Amino acid sequence: MTGGTRPRRAVLLLLLLLVGVAAPAASGVVTDGLLPNGNFEQGPDESQMSDTRVMSPNAIPHWEISGFVEYIGSGQQQDDMILPVPEGARAVRLGNDATIRQLLSVTQKASYSITFSAARTCAQAEQLNVSVGPESGVLPIQTVYTSSGWDSYSYAFRARHSTVWLSIHNPGHEDDPACGPLIDFIAIKTLSPPRREKGNMLKNGDFEEGPFIFRDTPWGALVPPMEEDKVSPLPGWMVMSDTKVVKYVDAGHHAVPRGARAVELVAGSEVALLQEVRTVAGRTYRLSFSVGDAGNGCAQPLAVRASAASSSQAVTYESRGTGGSRRGELEFAAAADVTRIVFQSMNHHMKPDGTLCGPVVDDISLVGVSKRAARRLFM
Ligand SMILES: *[C@@H]1O[C@H](CO)[C@@H](O)[C@H](O)[C@H]1NC(C)=O
Repeated sequence: MTGGTRPRRAVLLLLLLLVGVAAPAASGVVTDGLLPNGNFEQGPDESQMSDTRVMSPNAIPHWEISGFVEYIGSGQQQDDMILPVPEGARAVRLGNDATIRQLLSVTQKASYSITFSAARTCAQAEQLNVSVGPESGVLPIQTVYTSSGWDSYSYAFRARHSTVWLSIHNPGHEDDPACGPLIDFIAIKTLSPPRREKGNMLKNGDFEEGPFIFRDTPWGALVPPMEEDKVSPLPGWMVMSDTKVVKYVDAGHHAVPRGARAVELVAGSEVALLQEVRTVAGRTYRLSFSVGDAGNGCAQPLAVRASAASSSQAVTYESRGTGGSRRGELEFAAAADVTRIVFQSMNHHMKPDGTLCGPVVDDISLVGVSKRAARRLFM
């Protein structure tokens, strides 16, 4: 009898130990969506503020601050400008050298994207430095892509540890120390590794995997330019530009040629959306893709240039601004064992409200073409 209970007790103890160790980590890992107090609706006590400035590092629940951080209510005025807030009634404003940060529990080695909304409040070329652990990226925010003034930006990282600090820092040094962007609505999403669909050499060719888009925000999420070795919020794809972005759009608020997501090329030829793919030099490939409009009033003749190796093809699309798309194709001979597939909008476009817009690309596929088989077919 005693011989039987002892092992059972040992197993029970082991189970308890395992559960005891695993439970806090499992329940603490961030879930997709808004970060704890990611909309800043929970604010500081009045005693921790001087006018709008937050005076204590831990005054905002779930956040730690440093530098000149203001806690802003919807409709609050600055000089004679009203500061709007995109979600709820509260936001923060990052003045000179100000930082907000939050400690995140994540799954080590997993990739995540962060989406947050930002609005410029001063005339200067504002930037935000987003960092997670030792990784950082400086996001240019001087161009405004919405009529509300609020844009959602994305940033991606791979977790090196199971807890990481997410920081958003305004590196500016303006004469007016309060000068700096408003921040609100910070969310996270786990990124699945980019996958190839059967019969397509490209990863995430349909853009179904990408950064978090808030269900209530109609303006998608901007994917900023990134350095080559960085994690992309748009798995498989890279955005190259000095200061411009592409816009990741959702079927909930836009016309999307296929599936639930697509990319709007909003900054003309100043931005390239590209993917590198393994090829065999001398072999022929066929790239096919959809070019359309996002159904957002961009009623102009649009054009996308697709390039690969030394070939390129311009695909024009007459947009009425109400949605729709056509297929385009590019056949090319690879010149090396890696080929860059590049998409660019050929022109700048502006909607009647003055905001930038452009063609949508989606449903991109790449296949090898057997020339010998093709020739046989025509004989
Ligand atoms: C951005 O922030 C990180 C982390 O604080 C820092 O290492 C990096 O130098 C900053 N980059 C710029 C351009 O300020």
